[in-house]
Amino acid sequence: MTTLFLMVGLPGAGKTTRARQLADEHGALRLTPDEWMLPLFGAPESDGKRDVLEGRMLWLALEAVRLGPDVVVDYGCWSRDERSAIRWLAEAEGARFRLIYLPVDAETQRARLAHRRATAAGVTFPLTEADIVHARAQFEEPDAAEREGRTAVDAPPAGWTDWREWAADRWPSFA
Ligand SMILES: Nc1ncnc2c1ncn2[C@@H]1O[C@H](COP(=O)(O)OP(=O)(O)OP(=O)(O)O)[C@@H](O)[C@H]1O
Ligand SMILES: [Mg+2]
Repeated sequence: MTTLFLMVGLPGAGKTTRARQLADEHGALRLTPDEWMLPLFGAPESDGKRDVLEGRMLWLALEAVRLGPDVVVDYGCWSRDERSAIRWLAEAEGARFRLIYLPVDAETQRARLAHRRATAAGVTFPLTEADIVHARAQFEEPDAAEREGRTAVDAPPAGWTDWREWAADRWPSFA
């Protein structure tokens, strides 16, 4: 049985660092959109291209778990709906789903972002103080039940038949 690991956490929480370790430990395919946005488009976000990239990456992640290797999806996933959709889709492929949540307090977050700016400028994106404040306000922290996968996946929001349909709307290139 293959595993899809989903990294969850705020910018600078350490997701990509941990995702690299997981990929090494499990021989997993790591999908980190930031490493594609900059070479392809020269920007972290560009007219919704990030959503398009993530949709095809999610499609690829599901192909991969069907074929064999474990996968690490390194998106951040601030919203519970996004996480529910990815869990549902992974389990629909017969894969195991593991949510990897990396909590980070504001002070540590700022220190890590500063460290990254100092050590990896050019391969990552600088974040403003406003970006950090916005992220902390928007982020929907996974509760213990969600982190441990103890409960059934939520139903999709009203108006959606299933999470596959929801995901195709959220990530246009998914379907
Ligand atoms: N456990 C840790 N302890 C101390 N420093 C860490 C830890 N994990 C990561 N870092 C450092 O913090 C910085 C941010 O880490 P990383 O790039 O992995 O975060 P991220 O969650 O992927 O951020 P983003 O959402 O912006 O992609 C890096 O400089 C990294 O070396
Ligand atoms: Mg990262």
